[in-house]
Amino acid sequence: MRNPDATDARPRPYGVYVHVPFCTHRCDYCDFATWTDREHLIDDYVDACVTDLGRRYAGGALPLATTVFFGGGTPSLLDASQLGRILDAIPRGPGAEVTIECNPDAVDAEKLAGYRAAGANRLSFGVQSMAAHVLASLGRTHRPENVERAVRAARDAGFERINLDVIYGADGESVADWELTLRAVLELAPEHVSAYGLTVEPPTPLAARVRAGEVRPPDDDDQAEKYALADAVLEAAGYRWYEISNWAKPGEECRHNQIYWRGGDYLAIGCAAHGHTGGRRWWNVRTPERYLAAIAAGEDPGAGEEILDPGVRAEETFSLELRTGDGTHLPLEGPDPDPELLALVSDLVAAGLLVREGVRVVLTPTGRLMANDLTARLLNAGAARPFIPAGTR
Ligand SMILES: C[S@@+](CC[C@H](N)C(=O)[O-])C[C@H]1O[C@@H](n2cnc3c(N)ncnc32)[C@H](O)[C@@H]1O
Repeated sequence: MRNPDATDARPRPYGVYVHVPFCTHRCDYCDFATWTDREHLIDDYVDACVTDLGRRYAGGALPLATTVFFGGGTPSLLDASQLGRILDAIPRGPGAEVTIECNPDAVDAEKLAGYRAAGANRLSFGVQSMAAHVLASLGRTHRPENVERAVRAARDAGFERINLDVIYGADGESVADWELTLRAVLELAPEHVSAYGLTVEPPTPLAARVRAGEVRPPDDDDQAEKYALADAVLEAAGYRWYEISNWAKPGEECRHNQIYWRGGDYLAIGCAAHGHTGGRRWWNVRTPERYLAAIAAGEDPGAGEEILDPGVRAEETFSLELRTGDGTHLPLEGPDPDPELLALVSDLVAAGLLVREGVRVVLTPTGRLMANDLTARLLNAGAARPFIPAGTR
């Protein structure tokens, strides 16, 4: 139990997200803001990010970054000097976490050593599957052995924190294929694993193939079985579940993503990036060309913003926290607990979907499969109401 009187010497978390919208190949399932025909823009794009960062930090009002995340797209298309130019423009606190998303095909020992020297200390590889025929079904270009080579090169370069992303539920993936992927991932001894159920996003080639009847869409029961298998295999290997799709060795949780899940503040750099400061959410122009043009013209690259009213913010915080291993607190004790909420929580606990620990509730493995539905039911019963400051209800 933490002493509530102790002063917390750690700086307040502040994240910087840098979007790198370039890929050599677009995966069939991907709906992210990324382009395969703009590699000639990379150097100018890096300069624009540096200029953008310089302007934003110029007033001295922004906190030092406690985490930096290069996401994509494929940030590992940047060479080490390009990555270093951007990192040098981000004032960082001591021990800041710096993650780079990598495609196993787009790295080698020299590049990774350069990233490490430039200040990166965490890598996240898009592995997706370790079964060659599933990789082909997902439209990936790499083979399982490239992943092994990339992880070995990362360790040789001195990276002590590695995440591997995997996807379950592709057409043609058996439960045995998924188990093979999990076991092969564990052989590589990453500190962190993210496992996502494949989603079919409407504007993707995958969705077109599903519509044409060429591939079967993911099946809910199959994904539920594979989620349960992932949880069991990862927990047995010493990984702790800490967010719906994320497991980590103790202390190896991704601090950057925790900022998102705790409703914290983060800066958005690059096209299509989203940022958040104290209830104001904003997003940048979508294409790299428009980002370059805005920065060249001395303009703010922001394309829109949303001010979250306290009620909406409380509901979002509740929804995000409920998806985490720490769960969230509910107004279940005190002089005036809401009888409807109390009854619902008792029902969900009895049904094995929630665990109650005092005023905190945490999803069980079965509850996690129905997280969206449970969130909606709890919100309807007033779960987020106490977070709304008096006078705004
Ligand atoms: C923005 S992607 C970047 C990955 C990196 N460029 C690579 O080559 O793997 C981050 C992760 O999101 C996940 N992802 C992307 N689209 C998805 C989808 N439709 N369904 C499930 N997971 C998805 C993948 O696991 C992927 O590794």
